[in-house]
Amino acid sequence: EHQKYIRNFSIVAHIDHGKSTLADRILEMTDTVAKRDMKNQLLDNMDLERERGITIKLNAVELTYHAKDGHDYEFHLIDTPGHVDFSYEVSRSLAACEGAVLVVDAAQGVEAQTLANVYLAIDDNLEIVPVINKIDLPSAEPEKVRTEIENVIGIDASDAVLASAKKGIGIEDLLEQIVHKIPAPTGDVQGPLKALVFDSVYDDYRGVVLSVRLFEGTVRPGDKIRMMNSGSEYEVTEVGVNSPKPVKRDYLMSGDVGYLTASIKDITTTRVGDTVTNADDPAEKELPGYREMHPMVYAGLYPTDNAKFDDLREALEKLKLNDAALEFEPEASQALGFGFRCGFLGLLHMDVVQERLEREFNLELITTAPSVTYRAKLTDGTVKMVENPSEMPESSSIKEISEPYVKATIMAPNDYVGAVMELCQHRRGIFDTMEYLDDYRVNIVYHMPLSEIIFDFFDKLKSGTHGYASLDYELEDYRPSDLVKIDILLNGDKVDALSFISHRQFAATRARDIVDRLKNIIPRQNFEIPVQAAIGAKIIARTNIKAYRKDVTAKLYGGDRTRRMKLLEKQKAGKKRMKAVGKVDIPQEAFMAVLKTD
Ligand code: GTP
Repeated sequence: EHQKYIRNFSIVAHIDHGKSTLADRILEMTDTVAKRDMKNQLLDNMDLERERGITIKLNAVELTYHAKDGHDYEFHLIDTPGHVDFSYEVSRSLAACEGAVLVVDAAQGVEAQTLANVYLAIDDNLEIVPVINKIDLPSAEPEKVRTEIENVIGIDASDAVLASAKKGIGIEDLLEQIVHKIPAPTGDVQGPLKALVFDSVYDDYRGVVLSVRLFEGTVRPGDKIRMMNSGSEYEVTEVGVNSPKPVKRDYLMSGDVGYLTASIKDITTTRVGDTVTNADDPAEKELPGYREMHPMVYAGLYPTDNAKFDDLREALEKLKLNDAALEFEPEASQALGFGFRCGFLGLLHMDVVQERLEREFNLELITTAPSVTYRAKLTDGTVKMVENPSEMPESSSIKEISEPYVKATIMAPNDYVGAVMELCQHRRGIFDTMEYLDDYRVNIVYHMPLSEIIFDFFDKLKSGTHGYASLDYELEDYRPSDLVKIDILLNGDKVDALSFISHRQFAATRARDIVDRLKNIIPRQNFEIPVQAAIGAKIIARTNIKAYRKDVTAKLYGGDRTRRMKLLEKQKAGKKRMKAVGKVDIPQEAFMAVLKTD
C-alpha cells in the first residue's frame, strides 16, 4: 500500500542541459527545503562541484509531492553527473530507479551524452519522461527538439514537458507526469531483505554510510545484516533518508531509497554494487551488481613530502569508498620517491581525485602526466601491460606495441563536418561512418587511439566547432602502432616521471616541443641545466636552461628588509608544488608539459 505512493527516478542529460537547476526547482516546489536554505545547485554538496558548476557525485534525496489527485507521493530523486568521465555514476543511480527524467536543452538539442545516458536508462527498462528545458532562451526551438528526440532517440515526445528550470516554468507539469508515467516500485515487503548498495561514504564517527535501494523486505536498527559479496555481518545502528539533510527513520522498506549505518569501520568489506541482506533470513540470490569499471588512464600521485606516503594511502582507501572507479597501487619513482600509480576514467576524473585528496585529506601532491595502458609483445613471447611509460621495455626486446582504441561518436552541426574530420584525421583517427540525423546535424564515428583523445582533443573539438560538437566514446580494442618511448634528461639525469610514449611520426616534433616547454617552466638555478629528449641512447632534441646571473637577483631582492622578506615569502609560496630531483627543482606544471600539443 505504502509502495503505491513512491516514485524513484533519476535525472539524466548531457552536461549543462540543466539537470541540477531542474532538481533545485523540484526541491523548491515540493517545499523540501525552506526558501531561506535554498541555494543554487543544492544537491551538488561538494565545494568542488559548486566552484566548477558540475555534478561529480550522484546524490539521492527524498521529497513529498502533494499531487492533483489529492494524494501525497514520496519521491526519491537521484541527481547524476553528465560528464562522460562520470557515466558509471549514472548507471549506478539508474539501477535504483523505475524511471528517468530526460532533460534536453531546447537550444542545443540531443547531444552525444544525451544519447549515451538515455540508452543506459532504456537498457534498464526505465520509463522515460522527456523534458525540453531552457524554453526561455531566445534561441530555443522546442518543436525542432521534440522531433529530434523522436527521430534520434526513438521515444514518444508528443507530451514532453516544456520547461524552463531557470524561470520555474513547467515544473508542476513535470511532477504530475512523474506521478502518472513512472511506475511505483514493486517487491515483497515481507520477503527477505534485498538492498542494493549504490553509493557509500566514510564518516569518522559513524563509520561507512551506505546509500541503499530496497528491492525486498524491511530493515531497522538492531537488525543483523550481511553483505552478500564479502560475507561480513553487522548490526544496523541507524537507517534514514536524505531530505536533503539526513533524517532518521524507524525502518526502511521495499521500494525505499535511503541510508544505513552499522558501525562499519573496515572499509574493505563494503563494495558499491553489493546486496545487503538479513543475516538470519538471507535472500537466496543477490541483486545484479554493476558493470565493473576499468580505468582508461593512469598517472602517478606522489606526496610532495615523502613522509606523507602512509597518509596518502589512507586517503586513497577512504576516497575509493566514495569513488568506486578509482584504482591504485604503490609505485616507486627514482625521481619522485614513493607514491601510487592510480587509474582514472578520464582526465576530469583525475583532476577531481587530486583536488579531493588535497582538500578533504589535506595533502599536497605531484601528479605525473597521464598515460593509457600499452600492450607490449616481447621477443621472448611474453606480453607486458605497461601503465607507466618509464616501464616500457627496451625497444630491442619488443616485438610489437599495441595501444587502446576507442569508438568515438561526435555530434555536430553540418557546417562543422570538415573541421571535425580534419581534427580526427590529425589525431590518427580512422573514419567509420557519417550519418545525417536531420537537416542540421550529423553523427560522425571514428576509431581513434585513446591516447589522442584523453589529452586536449575535447578542447580542440569544442573550439573548432564554436562549442557545438559533443563527444562520447567507448573502449574498443587494442591495435598495433609504431610507438616509441621518449625519455627526458635534466642535467644529464633521466627523470623517469617525465618519460612518455609517442607515435614515431610525431616523436621529433613532440620532443622539440617539450624540451622548449620545460625550458620555460623550470626555474633557473645558479648553474646551467641541459634539457634533452632521447629515444634509447639517441638524443633527438636538446636545449639549455641558462644559469641566473647573481647580480640581477641581488638588485632585485636588495632594498629594504620587509620588502625583501615579502619577496622571500612569495618565493616560498611559489615553490610549494615543487619536487627536488637531483639538484633541479621541478614544478608540477613540468610533469604535465607532455600533455599539451601544438
Ligand atoms: P552537470 O551537473 O554539470 O551535468 O550540469 P547540469 O546539467 O546539472 O546543468 P546545470 O543545472 O548546472 O545548468 C547549466 C547551466 O544552464 C547553468 O548556467 C544554468 O543556470 C543554466 N540553465 C539551467 N536551466 C536553464 C533554463 O531553463 N534556462 C536558461 N536560460 N538557463 C538554464
